[in-house]
Amino acid sequence: MAGETRKPVLVTRRLPEKVLTRIAAVCDLDLWQGPGAMPRGELLQRAAGKAGLVTLLTDRIDDELLEAAGPSLRIVANYAVGYDNIDVAACSARGVLVANTPDVLTESTADMAWALMLAASRRVCEGDRFIRSAEPWIWDPGMMLGWNVHHKVLGLVGFGRIAQAVAQRATGFGMRVIYASRSAAPPETQQRLGAERLGLEELLAEADCVSLHVPLTLETRHLIGAAELLRMKPTAVLVNTSRGPVVDEAALAAALRRRQIFAAGLDVYEREPAVPEELRELPNVVLAPHLGSASVETRLAMGMLAADNLLFALAGRRPPALVNREVWS
Ligand code: GLV
Ligand code: GLV
Repeated sequence: MAGETRKPVLVTRRLPEKVLTRIAAVCDLDLWQGPGAMPRGELLQRAAGKAGLVTLLTDRIDDELLEAAGPSLRIVANYAVGYDNIDVAACSARGVLVANTPDVLTESTADMAWALMLAASRRVCEGDRFIRSAEPWIWDPGMMLGWNVHHKVLGLVGFGRIAQAVAQRATGFGMRVIYASRSAAPPETQQRLGAERLGLEELLAEADCVSLHVPLTLETRHLIGAAELLRMKPTAVLVNTSRGPVVDEAALAAALRRRQIFAAGLDVYEREPAVPEELRELPNVVLAPHLGSASVETRLAMGMLAADNLLFALAGRRPPALVNREVWS
């Protein structure tokens, strides 16, 4: 692109260097250097006149922001697979493309769900805290007993790409896999993964590990609340690597405190980045700071895909991971 045709682009956080270099090679790059997320006022101001925005899940993209950006805006390329931070309908109404980063983070997020499942079931983090406390100890038959994961029942809520990657790993653990989702997966997929579809209530009652893999929508907000937790086995663990508000956090904390379920592994929180003290004080919950896709390889791949989405759109081509396909005509 010639100098005068370089399109103005805002990137709302420092991404891997290779990604920034790639964008800066063809665009006029405005980069928020932090610390932390762009304050709202700054975001509104610096979005003005941009042709593209590369956003994070910590940036709220709504009608006010689109209005501030103005008619030059062509694409919002989210550096995440989830896009609940974006009002997609508002973008579509203004003809603004929305893109995300699916596929490239599927396997890493599935790994993380497994890490939480194993850590919560076998009390890995509790053990780590104990060792660091330097209290004297000796191997004991009754010390810090958890529950087996292998040969148990894995219950997946949602059965998209990430859930299926979690299911695939379960075959190595000899688990029975059940799932609950709005629509049934193709018979070949169910057969390949040995997965059986059940209703949510049934799944909760049967699963030893319940792992959540739904996007955050009006329908999935507080999908797991007090009533759902009551259906779970007292020996079961709950894992959430999706979005915090899918779980009623106060109800979960109460269930964990009463030992109504055995443990939980959380990567996401209802009012992220806030994590309630009542959760932080419980021994039977493993808490991670939204690390699902946080591997060196995956964060680079996400950045490259976000850059592809951005640069394709600015060149008048269809972004590879377009969300609002109806805008493309
Ligand atoms: C992370 O949570 C993502 O949606 O990519
Ligand atoms: C435990 O360490 C065992 O050897 O059984």
